[in-house]
Amino acid sequence: MDKISIKGQRQLSGEVKISGAKNACLTLMPLSILLQETLELTNVPNLSDIITMQTLLRSLGSYIKYNPEKNSLKLTTKNITNSTADYDIVRKMRASILVLGPLLARMGKASVSLPGGCAIGARPVDLHLFGLEKLGAKLKLKDGYIIGNVRGRLKGAKIKFPFVSVGATENIIMAASLAKGTTIIKNAAREPEVVDLCNCIISMGGKIDGVGSSTIIIDGVDHLKHTTHNVMGDRIEMGTFMLAPAIAGGKIKIKGCNTDYLNSFIEKLVETGVDIKKNKNEIIVEKNIDVLNPINVITAPYPGFPTDLQAQLMTLTCFSKGISKFEEKIFENRFMHVPELIRMGANIEVQGGIAKVTGVSKLKGAPVMATDLRASVSLILAGLASSGETVISRVYHLDRGYENIEKKLSNCGANIRRFK
Ligand code: EPZ
Repeated sequence: MDKISIKGQRQLSGEVKISGAKNACLTLMPLSILLQETLELTNVPNLSDIITMQTLLRSLGSYIKYNPEKNSLKLTTKNITNSTADYDIVRKMRASILVLGPLLARMGKASVSLPGGCAIGARPVDLHLFGLEKLGAKLKLKDGYIIGNVRGRLKGAKIKFPFVSVGATENIIMAASLAKGTTIIKNAAREPEVVDLCNCIISMGGKIDGVGSSTIIIDGVDHLKHTTHNVMGDRIEMGTFMLAPAIAGGKIKIKGCNTDYLNSFIEKLVETGVDIKKNKNEIIVEKNIDVLNPINVITAPYPGFPTDLQAQLMTLTCFSKGISKFEEKIFENRFMHVPELIRMGANIEVQGGIAKVTGVSKLKGAPVMATDLRASVSLILAGLASSGETVISRVYHLDRGYENIEKKLSNCGANIRRFK
């Protein structure tokens, strides 16, 4: 298994081009199940999760041409030859559940393994099932699989989610796009990745109103047609790279994502005292002050503070003066980075869903272990500012969501290398 070594305390400077958004791509790719024509996606990131989703779709009958050099994917699902999403694939990636809605809409039947939990929480799929049953699917659980059947065609319905779920919103939007009649989703997720999905479906001939709001109205159509869709830039990757100069010092320009998607994160970063110059699709971040201010963060559904940037911003506050507080309200166990940061000398106390960070003057490199995607990258950020060498093991977690991270950082002056 690969490891990454970082020799810290080097000022950063240069430019980073952000890749396409993993979490947008993972919901756009299953759209291919809804039509016989080709769905073409550009600005596709070269990540292990994208490869896993290709493997899953191929197992269902999709023909996929992937060109990593051109970052393009052409997906054609003329026929569904298998409506079972195997446990072996689903257990690797929770987003596999996003084939359930499309399969029920296209085939009227599906058998998808329960994804199971992961490092950050139990992550049930009850809201996905609740919404799909409202659309007329008959679902039952058998031997660890969700078995779904539809008599005739899915029918539009009124669906009110008890709380916001990105994946459940996406599953219902995809299924409802081919249902008979109108579906109204209340308390829908407003994440930019959901907006990207809606915009793609509209370009395929789908009818969706309320895009980006918490009430989405979908008028089912009989067919969707070919489109070429450019995947949005990855706002979480952009936020992560914004923290690199803030933590290690220096100045970096990051481009390739609509910076309006990061307003709540930028607000917090400015509060720490970091200097930010924001344009539409690029942002310049510079650390101009010696010691940063403490902050208080509560994660929330979009447009609130994104849970996917909580671990990374916590790393910054390890160096701030005073006490910062992080309340994680989306996942029940998303402080897996804390014990590893403490190994590097951070002063963090966790009680329930709240982490209290007392700033220290420095961190010291150490051998640490990645546990989940965003926790892994918070250790990379810590290593950039630490004295000595930091060696991170289990970096396969990192490869799920960050394309060529060591190359992007070394191009900005970081002493970072991957080794076996
Ligand atoms: C998406 O996960 C993202 N993944 C996550 O990013 C992100 O952290 C999350 O949304 C929140 O923004 C992808 O888009 C592939 P949810 P998702 O359904 O859809 C609970 C990353 O690092 N819940 O909004 O699975 C759930 O347990 C990943 O890129 C239910 O209880 O998140 C969680 O506590 C991590 N029942 C909360 O809701 C359900 O049926 C929010 O989950 C569904 C969710």
